[in-house]
Order: sequence, then C-alpha cells, then structure tokens
Amino acid sequence: MKNIVAANWKMNFDIEKAQNVAKKMAETIDTKAIDVVVCPPFTHLDRLEEVFSSSVIKLGAQNMYFEEKGAFTGEISPAMLQSIGCEYVILGHSERRHIFYEDDELINKKVKSAKKYGFNIILCVGETLKERKNGRAFDVVKTQLQKGLDGVDRQNVIVAYEPVWAIGTGVSADRDTIEEIHKFIRQAESDVPILYGGSVKAKNAAEIAAIGDVNGFLVGSASLDADEFKKIIDEFIKTKGV
Ligand code: PGA
Repeated sequence: MKNIVAANWKMNFDIEKAQNVAKKMAETIDTKAIDVVVCPPFTHLDRLEEVFSSSVIKLGAQNMYFEEKGAFTGEISPAMLQSIGCEYVILGHSERRHIFYEDDELINKKVKSAKKYGFNIILCVGETLKERKNGRAFDVVKTQLQKGLDGVDRQNVIVAYEPVWAIGTGVSADRDTIEEIHKFIRQAESDVPILYGGSVKAKNAAEIAAIGDVNGFLVGSASLDADEFKKIIDEFIKTKGV
C-alpha cells in the first residue's frame, strides 16, 4: 500500500512567501519512501512546479471543476491542471462541502473527470460534530464514500478521513476514533490508501501513524511551516518503518 503525506495550504501565502516555503521544502525533503505532495492555491501552481521539479515533491491542486473547458467563469479544469504538471487533486474537502455547498453528486462528477485525466485523487470524507453527536459518523462516511466513488475504479484513488470537528482546531481526533473509522473504511475499500487529516502536527504524528490503517496524512495549518511539515514526514516514516 502506498503511503502519502500531503500538504493542503488552503487559501494562504502570496507568491513570494509560497515560493520561499516551497524552496525550503524542496531542499530539505528527500524521501522516496512515501509520496510527499504539496497542494498550493491555483495561482501558485505553475511557479511551484518549477521549484519542485528537481525534488521528490509532487504537485497537487485543492479542487477542480469536472468540465474540460468552456463557459464556467472562475473555474479550473483538469486539462489545465494536467498541462502544468499537477499529479494530485484533492476533491470533496469539507470546506468545499460546507462553505461552497458541494454535494456528493458534484464530487462524484469531479472524481470521474479527474480519473479520466489520470490524477491521483484524494477524496475527503468526514462527519461534522453534530453528525457525530447524533451517532451518524459511520453513516455519513459510508454515504460520502459510496456516492463519491460510485462507478469509479479504485486505481489512483486515495481516501482522506477528516472529521470536520478536528480540522483547524489544533486538537486531532483521538486514537480510538481514528482507528475505528479507518477500520470501517478499510472494510469497504480494501485497496485504497487511507489518510487521516485534522490537526496533524509533529507532536501527534507518531501516535496517529502508529494506527495500522493510517497510510498517511493530509496536513493543513502545520504544512505552512517547512520545518514542521518535514518533522511530520520524518515521524511518519520512522513510526511506519518504511
Ligand atoms: P488542519 O487541516 O491540519 O489545519 O486541521 C487539515 C485539512 O483541512 O486538510
């Protein structure tokens, strides 16, 4: 099973700052044991492709539209991402679902389109606090997986379990929660890498990496710092023994 640690920079950094952080990452991260992916804002992809071209770091996008081209003001197509050397794309992130009202049907169209273009797809799933409190965590994850991956062969598909209540809070889900949901996803999806996301940092990376069905991380805030991101990668590799 492939292991992946991916950085989701979200809507952070101007081009200058992005380039500096990316350069530091390119110079210091040299592992071939896992895939290391950085997903900057769209506007920085082209420049960062150059920065990462001589490193092990792979480039990813945080989102895309499913159409190839046309009158879709403000959108970015898979063909565009492919043409600048993007290899990964994050789809169905909880911020896309909750702030921009993306539903499972739209996400499924995006997944199918991304497959056509040969991207490695990081499909995010995860319940809100309210859903968890109502005992619906498993149901929500199951539905997001089934609908998101409907009619999709699983090659190059990666699932990221990101409980919405653990994103950007500084406090990750606890060990037992991560373990039981990852096990649940593994039962349905035996062959896809499963990442955990939600307040991953250097301090908790080893503890989470020790969970058997965790095949990597999707890291937000902590990936904005090159040293911290490298530490997370190192902790993951050391703990997994890969
Ligand atoms: P966080 O974000 O690490 O800042 O919690 C993770 C994510 O949203 O992918």
